[in-house]
Amino acid sequence: MPSLSEARAYNASVLSKVPTVPVALFVGGTSGIGQGTAEAFARYTNGNAHIIICGRNREAAERIIASFPKPTAAGAKHEFVQCDVSLMRNVRAVTADLISRLPKLNYLVLSTAFVDYKGYQPTEEGLDKKRAVAYFSRWRFTLDLLPLLRQAQDTGEAAKVLFVYGAGQPGRKIESDDDIDPVKAYKRGMGYVRTMGLTFMDTSLEAFVAENPWLTTIHTWPGAVHTPILPQIFPWLPSTIVSFISWLLARSPKDSGEFMLYALLKAEGAGQVLRFGETGEPVQRPDYITTEGQERLWKYTLEAISVR
Ligand SMILES: NC(=O)c1ccc[n+]([C@@H]2O[C@H](COP(=O)([O-])OP(=O)(O)OC[C@H]3O[C@@H](n4cnc5c(N)ncnc54)[C@H](OP(=O)(O)O)[C@@H]3O)[C@@H](O)[C@H]2O)c1
Repeated sequence: MPSLSEARAYNASVLSKVPTVPVALFVGGTSGIGQGTAEAFARYTNGNAHIIICGRNREAAERIIASFPKPTAAGAKHEFVQCDVSLMRNVRAVTADLISRLPKLNYLVLSTAFVDYKGYQPTEEGLDKKRAVAYFSRWRFTLDLLPLLRQAQDTGEAAKVLFVYGAGQPGRKIESDDDIDPVKAYKRGMGYVRTMGLTFMDTSLEAFVAENPWLTTIHTWPGAVHTPILPQIFPWLPSTIVSFISWLLARSPKDSGEFMLYALLKAEGAGQVLRFGETGEPVQRPDYITTEGQERLWKYTLEAISVR
């Protein structure tokens, strides 16, 4: 388990030696852990990277980008791409634009999610909104952007995708389509919905890697981090109180970003899902994942993200 100073030293040593201008996309980089990871990336590349922040909040993105070291290398730049990822057509529009103008993508970091207790809320595309934001959009981004990641890989550069979510956290076996159905999930309660969120992420990543063994595929569990998502988890408590307690007890987004960047840079080895915990320590593959459950979930996922 690396200490924070070891993670910092490692991140600095790797990113100070990158021979070309890396391209990194942070979907969910407008807040919290995604923001902390993007900021650490900008710091250690000294701004000499093409960094793209994606989310809805333009003001936050512009503030974050303004804090980055100014780029001096040719091709380095920092930009915001606005997208409400709850709709797959919005994600498709962004990925089509990126495919048309980027030469490659080295790092794809995905950390979008939100919490509410409203139950099943179908989007106009018919997908449950929480699943669309936290799960389906990540797969739409990843699958659409594979050609750019492949481009990086084929020229001997880093090609990595990082899902920040719940690596190795307790999940459930997927045994039937009922286990996947969002309406049935909400009927079983929010605890079940949350567990299935964790199950979906770890299980689908296994299916993805089986089809794309060339890509370095990473899943992390950030632990408790002082971000706007924590007050969303406890809406019945005043958000100032939750925020104060999380500021006291949880890790800062800056430190978490440092560890997430460490996991991103440290992860080596294609053909398997590489899982890391809150301080970049390796995490075991969960034992509830079955081949049958993996196939069932992947089929459902590919159909869902194909909505037009
Ligand atoms: N914080 C923790 O304690 C903790 C613990 C365990 C796991 N996690 C996981 O870590 C990940 C990151 O969480 P966080 O704490 O960094 O949360 P956060 O600070 O609330 O950030 C969430 C990000 O998701 C984006 N987002 C939400 N809805 C969106 C939408 N419709 N369209 C586009 N972007 C959207 C937000 O951007 P905009 O507002 O700009 O749209 C924001 O950048 C999540 O998957 C979370 O489940 C967090």
